[in-house]
Amino acid sequence: MCGIVGILGQEPVAMRLVEALRRLEYRGYDSAGIAVLEDGRLERVRAPGKLNNLVERLLASPLAATCGIGHTRWATHGAPNETNAHPHFAGPVAIVHNGIIENFKSLREGLLKDGVKTATDTDTEVVAHLIAQRLKAGDAPRQAVQNTLDKLEGAFAFVILFEGEEDLLIGARRGSPLAVGHGDGEMFLGSDAIALAPFTNRVTYLEDGDMAVLTRSSLELYDSQGRHTLRPLQFTQASALLVDKGGHRHFMAKEIAEQPDVVGHTMAEYLDFNAGRVRLPDMPVDLAGLSRINITACGTAYYAGLAAKYWIEQIARLPVEVDVASEFRYREAPLEEGGLSLVISQSGETADTLAALRYCKARGQKVAAVVNVPESTIARESDVVLRTFAGPEIGVASTKAYTCQLTVLAAFSIALARARGKLDDEGEARLVTAMNGLPRNLVRALREDGHIEEVAQKIAHSRDILYLGRGINYPTALEGALKLKEISYIHAEGYAAGELKHGPIALIDEDVPVVVIAPSDTLFDKTVSNMEEVAARGARIVLITDEEGAAHHGRNAFETISVPLADPFLAPILFAIPVQLLAYHAAVFLGTDVDQPRNLAKSVTVE
Ligand code: F6R
Repeated sequence: MCGIVGILGQEPVAMRLVEALRRLEYRGYDSAGIAVLEDGRLERVRAPGKLNNLVERLLASPLAATCGIGHTRWATHGAPNETNAHPHFAGPVAIVHNGIIENFKSLREGLLKDGVKTATDTDTEVVAHLIAQRLKAGDAPRQAVQNTLDKLEGAFAFVILFEGEEDLLIGARRGSPLAVGHGDGEMFLGSDAIALAPFTNRVTYLEDGDMAVLTRSSLELYDSQGRHTLRPLQFTQASALLVDKGGHRHFMAKEIAEQPDVVGHTMAEYLDFNAGRVRLPDMPVDLAGLSRINITACGTAYYAGLAAKYWIEQIARLPVEVDVASEFRYREAPLEEGGLSLVISQSGETADTLAALRYCKARGQKVAAVVNVPESTIARESDVVLRTFAGPEIGVASTKAYTCQLTVLAAFSIALARARGKLDDEGEARLVTAMNGLPRNLVRALREDGHIEEVAQKIAHSRDILYLGRGINYPTALEGALKLKEISYIHAEGYAAGELKHGPIALIDEDVPVVVIAPSDTLFDKTVSNMEEVAARGARIVLITDEEGAAHHGRNAFETISVPLADPFLAPILFAIPVQLLAYHAAVFLGTDVDQPRNLAKSVTVE
């Protein structure tokens, strides 16, 4: 995950930028760089690899500048080399960027038509050129940035430095995080408060769509509509801890909000957006030769595995077995030597998942692990690691790790389908393009937060709540129910929508809300019939659907929550947001300990 910083200081800034970047190392990176205004002129120093490589170069030719920007890059568009490392320059503009610009190809074509020459393959350079063009056309820096932001699609955060402007930094965010640090006669910008902790504990977190204009003595904020706005100044604990809540009330809220960013970074590892291709690390087996796959995991990670079963069977036409890890070895599953097992774990330390991994290895299987903690035991004992880039997940209830697991599993399913000849170039490119839009759609799904809070408060006093889903949305129903019960302590169950009349429908009355997860896909009408069955028995329906589903059937529901209309392939990832928010707000309303619910541990290392 890229990390970005900016400093308007009173003393030489180069090593301070590095110090801030060091605190962002946890996000992962493969190159780093800084740009400063040295005697009014833009200078930059960049280096592939670790920050120490950058430090060596800075020591060899020290800089005296007191304002600058810095970046640790996790490659998305273009190889991880010095040329593609940030900051990027265009005329008087230097920029660092975290996130993905989805429409950069068409923007670059426009620039090329205008005779602009680009030096790199990155989406970031395109943004620098667009700002430079606006400056040339006579815009002041703030206006040039605003005009450029209006053209961008995607989820991102920027910090921008301008040649000739010794007392100006502009930051902007949409989806990806950004915070302003207030010093004494100094101002800072950073991906999070952890980066700013060496300099200040007074922080203003930008809200989605905000732009910040900084001088050493002032901060002006503008919202997504370009209106002047104010955001609270907060005192953070980030210097004491290495993690903080980023201005949110709970870690869980922060982690839910981080999903456009971390899903974007996870995608960037596995998808080549330029080529429209998926790239996996070298696999220990020939994917084309597999006759089946088995997946094991616990809890939320198990539901990610269940969604993967639908993806893999639907697009790669390969049979998949999914087991909860705590049961897997007791059924003494026969496993083919040389076959492939997938294990999924945020922590990489879950005892049952580890035992399942060892069971598979003992029977000659190769193991691929989808894990978030790369140093974990499961990662170390696997043959290949398909890492998620969710960053540290502190809330006990898994949220961002889940959507990152799904992102990796979606990419894996596409790669498998390709390897098995079940998907052609065009089909792969279509799915990769659809995934490219995920961060933006996640941002839009998060905007329903206020409405979901109201819905959560209306159902929070229920004793039981049912969640229904069909097809690939059935795992989301299970996950929604798990999220709700673990943090709000409301009894909740997820069912396959068609199973309802085989028993659970007996529970339905006006006191049992039913949450129906139904995107407007090919199964929509069937799920709506199930919804009507329960509505006829007095149940209050909360329909979670997309814009099209809401337009057709929203009126039949007691409440309708809608997410953006997107490729049905992405539904498990997109629909995770409303079920997480519903559980979160119900728990906050009931006053439970959201981040550390009773009886639960983040990492379950006993069987
Ligand atoms: C639920 C949750 C748990 C974990 C499960 C597996 O919100 O967090 O169900 O998903 O304990 O943990 P990991 O993924 O660390 O193996």
